[in-house]
Amino acid sequence: MSKQFDVLVIGGGPGGYVAAIRAAQLGFSVACCEDQAYADPDGQPRLGGACLNVGCIPTKALLHTSHLFAEAQHGFAAQGIRVGQPEIDVGRMIERKNGIVSQLTGGIRGLFKKNKVSFLPGRGAFIGRSGDSWQMKVGDEMVEATQVIIATGSRARHLPGIAVDNRIVCDNVGALDIDAVPKKLAIIGAGVIGLEMGCVWSRLGSEVTLLEAAPTFLASADSDVAREAAKAFAKQGLSIKLGVNIDNVSVSGEGVALVYTDAQGQAQKLDADRLIVSVGRVPNTDGLNAEVVGLQLDDKGYVVVDDRCRTKLPNVWAVGDVVRGPMLAHKAMEEGVMVAELMAGQAGHCNHDTIPWVIYTSPEIAWVGKTENQLKADGVAYKVGKIPFMANGRALGMGETTGFVKMLACAQTDRVLGLHIVGVNASELIMEGVTALEFGASAEDIARICHAHPTLSEVVHEAALACDKRPLHF
Ligand code: FAD
Ligand code: NAI
Repeated sequence: MSKQFDVLVIGGGPGGYVAAIRAAQLGFSVACCEDQAYADPDGQPRLGGACLNVGCIPTKALLHTSHLFAEAQHGFAAQGIRVGQPEIDVGRMIERKNGIVSQLTGGIRGLFKKNKVSFLPGRGAFIGRSGDSWQMKVGDEMVEATQVIIATGSRARHLPGIAVDNRIVCDNVGALDIDAVPKKLAIIGAGVIGLEMGCVWSRLGSEVTLLEAAPTFLASADSDVAREAAKAFAKQGLSIKLGVNIDNVSVSGEGVALVYTDAQGQAQKLDADRLIVSVGRVPNTDGLNAEVVGLQLDDKGYVVVDDRCRTKLPNVWAVGDVVRGPMLAHKAMEEGVMVAELMAGQAGHCNHDTIPWVIYTSPEIAWVGKTENQLKADGVAYKVGKIPFMANGRALGMGETTGFVKMLACAQTDRVLGLHIVGVNASELIMEGVTALEFGASAEDIARICHAHPTLSEVVHEAALACDKRPLHF
């Protein structure tokens, strides 16, 4: 006898659990199944996906601890605070991080109860179709659902010939549980994970080298922002080597030896105590039985969907990392809400042009909309308003003067086309740009909004004024 639901969500990450909650709020009977990828100490699958278990949340906990440590070491003295030489208790740091993860993953169980979402532990797979229903299997149980939402997410991409043991050679999972500060840390891939984890361990005292295949640093960011960030990271001691080719990695005893070809074509060697491999992620579709029901995947393994997250199969949707677009938790959640609302006959909305990117290093990096290079390539005439944090009283008071806010607006209509921030609290400040883009606001609209003083948001205000060449404080 099958369990029957209106909606079965496959995967309990941010795309899946949010879709499940929203669908239940809209009156559907909903179940969400979750595989064993992340498990409680008692073996029960944990909700929250990569984001809560091994992604957004644990990385930000480690970034915060390491930020405080670096402040105590290098920032306090300038403000007249004398403390002895701080020491890092890595065990305690990891324990705190694990506590936050447990609290939040457990919290989703609570949200499921509150919203009457049934949690089904086990791997979900398609069996077939009968009438208007999808026949599904979750673990050993049969489930029938009218609508299915695939939210199976992604996992770390590994490189051929580099075996990840999550002890000496780590992907994003092992990188969160390194149990002592490595004297030397090598990282393959200077993308988002490489930079965030590099920042954590460099602040705690590791000598960090990032080996990046691309010839350009942070190519998806605005090039001004990437240049400023690269300068700041170099000052902090992060060594970032671009245009490299990894030739060989061998693990011996408690360390790793890398051989690579540098951008000049010279063979180089690098020894390290730990290696993190962070070269992107691949979508999870194994075990879904995609082929049995004819679920279409593209050549990289993503589930093919339209702009409303509909697959080609009737009443089968897919959201989050398993479909095209940026692999970001907030994008997954937006798509989850949109799908639930579309299922209920509502408008549903997810604007892929206004999804913000944030990298939580110091300085933080955040952007939304078009970069200057993209506008040039598109042949769009634009204005630039760029203001340094150095010109802001709050930033000076905080001792956080690195970086700038750069606003790009259409030369003809004045509409905001992009906001690019490198500097303190960029992660929060970017929301003004997201709001402006979402509502089609102009730089003049932002310039006419009263911004509280003294706040960092005044730098965004001044950048808007600068688009019209009338900044007041720069
Ligand atoms: P996932 O979170 O991957 O969840 C999918 C879930 O489905 C998993 O729990 C998996 O076990 C389960 N599953 C898979 N197959 C099946 C099946 N057949 N049956 C049942 N269950 C299944 N994004 C941000 O926006 N901000 C950040 O700061 C950020 N930091 C990150 C840091 C790291 C180190 C990493 C790795 C990622 C980070 N991300 C961040 C990305 C973010 O974690 C993902 O974009 C987000 O988790 C995607 O959500 P999802 O629901 O699509 O997939
Ligand atoms: P990434 O795509 O950000 O970066 C991977 C980097 O590895 C790229 O710069 C790429 O050029 C490089 N690379 C690929 N193959 C290589 C090779 N063989 N040798 C050397 N370099 C190589 O992927 P990353 O850092 O693994 O993160 C995965 C995803 O997780 C991100 O794209 C993002 O979607 C998400 N994430 C988001 C965060 C945030 O929002 N703050 C934080 C961390 C992850």
